Amino acid sequence: MKGLNKNPLNSVSKIFNVQLQLIHILSYFLLLGCGVSLEIIISTYSKTFSFSLQFTQFSLSNTSHLQIPNVSHIGLKDYLKPPDVMHDMDDAELLWRASMTPKIQDYPFDRVPKVAFMFLTRGPVFLAPLWEKFFKGHEGLYSIYVHSNPSYNGSYTESPVVTGRRIPSKEVQWGKVNMIEAERRLLANALLDISNQRFVLLSESCIPLFNFSTVYSYLINSNQSYVMAYDEPGPVGRGRYNFHMFPHITLNQWRKGSQWFEMDRNLALEIVSDRKYFPIFQKYCKGSCYADEHYLPTFLISKFWRGNSNRSLTWVDWSKGGRHPAKFLRPEVTIELLKRLRTQKGCKYNGNSTNLCFLFARKFLPGTLQRLLMFAPKVMHFNQ
Ligand SMILES: *[C@@H]1O[C@H](CO)[C@@H](O)[C@H](O)[C@H]1NC(C)=O
Ligand SMILES: *[C@@H]1O[C@H](CO)[C@@H](O)[C@H](O)[C@H]1NC(C)=O
Ligand SMILES: *[C@@H]1O[C@H](CO)[C@@H](O)[C@H](O)[C@H]1NC(C)=O
Ligand SMILES: *[C@@H]1O[C@H](CO)[C@@H](O)[C@H](O)[C@H]1NC(C)=O
Ligand SMILES: *[C@@H]1O[C@H](CO)[C@@H](O)[C@H](O)[C@H]1NC(C)=O
Ligand SMILES: *[C@@H]1O[C@H](CO)[C@@H](O)[C@H](O)[C@H]1NC(C)=O
Ligand SMILES: *[C@@H]1O[C@H](CO)[C@@H](O)[C@H](O)[C@H]1NC(C)=O
Repeated sequence: MKGLNKNPLNSVSKIFNVQLQLIHILSYFLLLGCGVSLEIIISTYSKTFSFSLQFTQFSLSNTSHLQIPNVSHIGLKDYLKPPDVMHDMDDAELLWRASMTPKIQDYPFDRVPKVAFMFLTRGPVFLAPLWEKFFKGHEGLYSIYVHSNPSYNGSYTESPVVTGRRIPSKEVQWGKVNMIEAERRLLANALLDISNQRFVLLSESCIPLFNFSTVYSYLINSNQSYVMAYDEPGPVGRGRYNFHMFPHITLNQWRKGSQWFEMDRNLALEIVSDRKYFPIFQKYCKGSCYADEHYLPTFLISKFWRGNSNRSLTWVDWSKGGRHPAKFLRPEVTIELLKRLRTQKGCKYNGNSTNLCFLFARKFLPGTLQRLLMFAPKVMHFNQ
């Protein structure tokens, strides 16, 4: 309590002192604030300045440093470009990639459908010079793929139509399931080209029976696939069925047929994507089962028989009996033979009757080439 209100003047001066200090503090803050905002202004300005400086440099500098990548020039065409036929994909990778299909059915570009000619051979395509004449002038409407045994050393001089068309290939043995693996490998490689619409399997001993325009229009306009499939009750048909395949494949579904098929893109996609029937064949179709005569017909009849004609487009002569069809030697190749093969009777095409049953024929040995080349323009109307 002491000194309270003892000297009123003293109290006033004290109050005045306090006010003075307040003013000091306030002005200090004011100065501080000014400093900070000044700093902000300066730094912002300098940034803007340096930015505009950079911008000026940017726009003035040599345009060769500034080239914007050609992004806008990458079109659908670039995305759809098929890879080189010789690639590093293994079978699992290849089949997976090949199984892709567009969900939108209409193509947003002018798609010219191609026919994929797939040669499954031991070594060289001996009759390639004949095929070269067949293909001549029809570039853009076909693709060629060759699967030959890895042991083939490539020493034979082949026609340019097949050089550089070999796909990564593996060992194939007659009648073994690895024959189907090779067929699926060919189909998968051909599927990588979105333009391929029809797929025909050929051997080195196959010949065309008609000119390219006839073959192309027959295949592209057909509403069916050509996989031979029939029910053979005897030992060389149902007798090859393995009961371990039951219940996934039943005896009633078991079919037989020639390995030389022709099919459309939808069926080719189903075959490379098959993860149910093919493993069963790999496991149970061994020895005298001959997977190449049973896998495709059985798979098709079980699931996709509707779009199939059940007949093959490749003529072959079984009339001489035995386990292999007849082989044609040089003197047996005549104009009459070729004419006869071109006009068989009683086939159906898109619901109509036709005498045009076979587009291809086998088995022609290498020695027949010269005579075939001689007869082709006249009988098969090549190069007209
Ligand atoms: C850009 O640089 C290149 C070589 O460095 C030169 O030839 C060209 O004349 C320069 N262009 C401009 C517009 O300065
Ligand atoms: C960019 O695209 C144009 C036109 O398609 C082409 O001529 C040019 O070569 C391309 N440049 C590069 C660097 O790819
Ligand atoms: C390639 O294979 C053929 C037949 O098997 C043989 O005659 C030829 O000498 C081989 N050529 C080379 C270069 O190895
Ligand atoms: C093909 O065979 C299947 C099964 O045997 C049959 O249902 C179908 O009608 C046949 N198709 C033709 C075109 O003959
Ligand atoms: C193919 O076309 C013919 C004639 O138009 C028709 O009768 C037949 O049902 C068609 N087949 C398929 C599988 O679409
Ligand atoms: C099938 O024959 C009919 C009647 O002759 C004809 O109108 C039709 O165009 C033919 N179809 C084909 C695909 O040839
Ligand atoms: C192809 O052969 C047919 C007869 O099969 C013929 O009418 C046609 O003119 C030939 N086409 C060409 C381009 O030579």
